[in-house]
Amino acid sequence: MVPKLICDDDMVDIYTPTTSDKDSLKVTIKLSVEKINTINRICASFGNNPEELINVLHETQNTLGYLPAEVQEIIAHNLKISAAQVYGVVTFYSYFTMVPRGDYPISVCMGTACYVRGAEKILEELKKELKIGIGETTPDQRFSISCLRCVGACGLAPVLMVGEKVYGRVAPDDVRKILEEYKNDNDEEYKCQQL
Ligand code: FES
Repeated sequence: MVPKLICDDDMVDIYTPTTSDKDSLKVTIKLSVEKINTINRICASFGNNPEELINVLHETQNTLGYLPAEVQEIIAHNLKISAAQVYGVVTFYSYFTMVPRGDYPISVCMGTACYVRGAEKILEELKKELKIGIGETTPDQRFSISCLRCVGACGLAPVLMVGEKVYGRVAPDDVRKILEEYKNDNDEEYKCQQL
């Protein structure tokens, strides 16, 4: 049975009605109605079509910053698929994240061209400079690190991205200089909106 959504001001309950209370599954989700409406709008823009799941996830993450379980539940509800299916896709692709990214999410391309041209050394330099690992966010919420597969700019390998901005032919020595651009900067252009 498809889970039912109930909105109550700033809270939504998702539950699956069953024949007995004992067996009923109820998950309380704390998301603002505004955020839920945003997710609903994104799903509707793809016709609530389950075959558009990856596009829906892309758009939702671009808008909200990350894809926690609550968000996945609402997407699953709209697309009439199981939350497990959504979770499977989110965890399969390294682009997707279930934890908040920093204001300036940094992605290192680990596709073949970038890898053979030293992407790993760039990654190590980033980890050293920021003192965080892959999938982690700095304590001040400013930077996070993730890895991507080919981003389609192999001619510029190795490639690093800060938000949507692409840096090509990056050398380990460039990492500190790139980070400096964002350390004292309040440029909204590359920031992700967080929940
Ligand atoms: S492998 Fe990195 S851009 Fe293609």
